[in-house]
Amino acid sequence: MTKFQKHEFDDIVQNIINLKEYNNLKKEIHHGISRYDHSMHVARCSYKLCKVFKIDYKEATRSALLHDFFTNSEVKDYNAIKRYRIHPQIALNHSSKYFNLTEKEKDAILTHMFPWTLTIPKYKESWIVSLADKIVSIKEGCNSKLFMPLTTLFLFIINIISIQK
Ligand SMILES: [Fe+2]
Ligand SMILES: [Fe+2]
Repeated sequence: MTKFQKHEFDDIVQNIINLKEYNNLKKEIHHGISRYDHSMHVARCSYKLCKVFKIDYKEATRSALLHDFFTNSEVKDYNAIKRYRIHPQIALNHSSKYFNLTEKEKDAILTHMFPWTLTIPKYKESWIVSLADKIVSIKEGCNSKLFMPLTTLFLFIINIISIQK
């Protein structure tokens, strides 16, 4: 990131990372690091990808930061697959409680686990957040056995969609 981009990124994320409840994510373990750090990585990755594709980097960055806004205690009674499916809705509920979200931001949070969830992203920014989450999770060493095959399927679907345009 350039100095200008870092400044711009900090401006976009500021009101979210200043929220006390959001800072609780620093205590939540996610892919071996804190969920706060994971979300920041996804937000940075989304910001950069949106800059490359010249699409709405603000909404993508905000929703990337909010995409996993949930605590482990809220999903502790579910198995891994169910957790994959249910946490986007929990994250959206928390995010809507504290912030005014646009339709695009709501969609990006709710659909970021596609194709685990059958909610297909409606906007380019939602696809970016979902893709950034997978890129970052691979980098962070996500060890789910289902991860690689489903990521492959995800990329395959993106390819099919882009060919059809
Ligand atoms: Fe997630
Ligand atoms: Fe995530």
